[in-house]
Amino acid sequence: MIDYEKCKRSAEYILSRSKLRPATAIILGSGLGALTKELSEGVKIPYGEIEALGCGTTNGAHEGALYIGKLDGVEVALFSGRFHYYEQYGFDKAGSMVGVMKLMGIERMIVTNAAGAVNPEFKIGDFVIIKDHIKFFTESPVRGNVDSEFGERFFDLSDIYSSKLRAVAKECGKEVGEELKEGVYFFMPGPQYETPAEIRAIRILGGDLVGMSTVPEVITAGYCKLKVLGISCVTNMAAGVTENKINDAEVVEVTGRSGTRFSALIKKIVKEIDKDAV
Ligand code: HPA
Repeated sequence: MIDYEKCKRSAEYILSRSKLRPATAIILGSGLGALTKELSEGVKIPYGEIEALGCGTTNGAHEGALYIGKLDGVEVALFSGRFHYYEQYGFDKAGSMVGVMKLMGIERMIVTNAAGAVNPEFKIGDFVIIKDHIKFFTESPVRGNVDSEFGERFFDLSDIYSSKLRAVAKECGKEVGEELKEGVYFFMPGPQYETPAEIRAIRILGGDLVGMSTVPEVITAGYCKLKVLGISCVTNMAAGVTENKINDAEVVEVTGRSGTRFSALIKKIVKEIDKDAV
């Protein structure tokens, strides 16, 4: 359950630590934390100080701190590190981060991740805009939540990956020399990577990308009525798409070396969506 009062106290604490009032939040995926170095006038708040988040993450590629600052002059909240189901957390832990954002006054969330390519046309190092997701079988992050000040129990997700934000992101991609593809992200709970048979099934079901994060946050954003833009960095071809085995070191290495391109793209997008209040 996402605890409204905890999220509220957490948001009040965060706002007491900074004079900035960002409308855009960015969740940085595995290895994509370099963006925090580009912030000016920033304040860093470890997740351990934020009641609703409680503790840092246990995954080495994720830092576990919130930064509030300016990215090329635009106020942003950067969540460096997220909570994964495979670490032990329930999906509501990832959802609480979004509840906190909402109560901080955030209007739109950019969510990033490392993902495996199920679509054979994608290449390692590609940035892919998420146009939709599939999450079967595991529970919802807002299971048990009822109508509340966040939103209603039943809510629509048809345009959760905002078509307007996707269009702006595509244009921004062109301006920084990135041809951004679009794809459907298929959530798998991990921590094991998938089998080739699972990946073949995911492809048949309409998945282009596979990963172990993002979707719990996005569903909660739907509940809280935040707009969403999702971007994946393809770190490997999914199991069986090529003969190569998948390893975590490669995943982190690819995001690490994509950091400069990634930062340029995100900065451009943040500026554009802020200017036009998309
Ligand atoms: N599968 C699941 N999660 C991932 C992958 C993958 O191939 N690559 C990066 N995150």
